[in-house]
Amino acid sequence: MNPNTTGARSHATDHASPGHSLVLRVVPMPADVHANGDLFGGWVMAQVEIAGGICAARRARGRVATVAVNAFQFRQPISVGDVVSFYACIERSGRTSVTVHVEVIAERNPAQPVVVKVTEATLTYVAIDDSGLKREIPVDPAAP
Ligand SMILES: CC(C)(COP(=O)(O)OP(=O)(O)OC[C@H]1O[C@@H](n2cnc3c(N)ncnc32)[C@H](O)[C@@H]1OP(=O)(O)O)[C@@H](O)C(=O)NCCC(=O)NCCS
Repeated sequence: MNPNTTGARSHATDHASPGHSLVLRVVPMPADVHANGDLFGGWVMAQVEIAGGICAARRARGRVATVAVNAFQFRQPISVGDVVSFYACIERSGRTSVTVHVEVIAERNPAQPVVVKVTEATLTYVAIDDSGLKREIPVDPAAP
């Protein structure tokens, strides 16, 4: 039996990894799908960039710019009406940059809930000042 159709939440990919915090929750709408009815990968990428940016800006105590998408994996499709949650975790803080891991969980079929990890990605953000120039990130001994 497929554990993703039972409502069981114990499947290895049905929840975010330890250390990840919820930063964003969105429900995709019909305008977000392409002609064959699947969700645009670009929609997910945009939300992931926003979610990772929220996490990075908290760590950087201010404005950040995305400098790199280091890795991006689409594991499962997302459908219109899924409740899509973005969990983020700081992987590394550098002098001016923060690397964030984002995991995306989709919850569907409220009558018999199914929860699936659909996407994961790693992005690097650079802390910038009001002029858009890089700046140093405040030291935080508690942060990775
Ligand atoms: C982000 C930006 C201000 C960085 O300025 P820069 O002077 O070129 O920065 P540097 O090359 O010195 O790198 C700054 C930090 O980013 C890191 N970095 C740069 N390129 C990277 C890459 N491809 N992958 C991972 N980290 C990278 C560096 O290691 C450095 O980190 P550290 O200080 O923690 O060691 C500049 O590149 C920029 O404005 N880019 C456009 C950002 C943007 O518009 N993003 C939205 C996409 S449309």
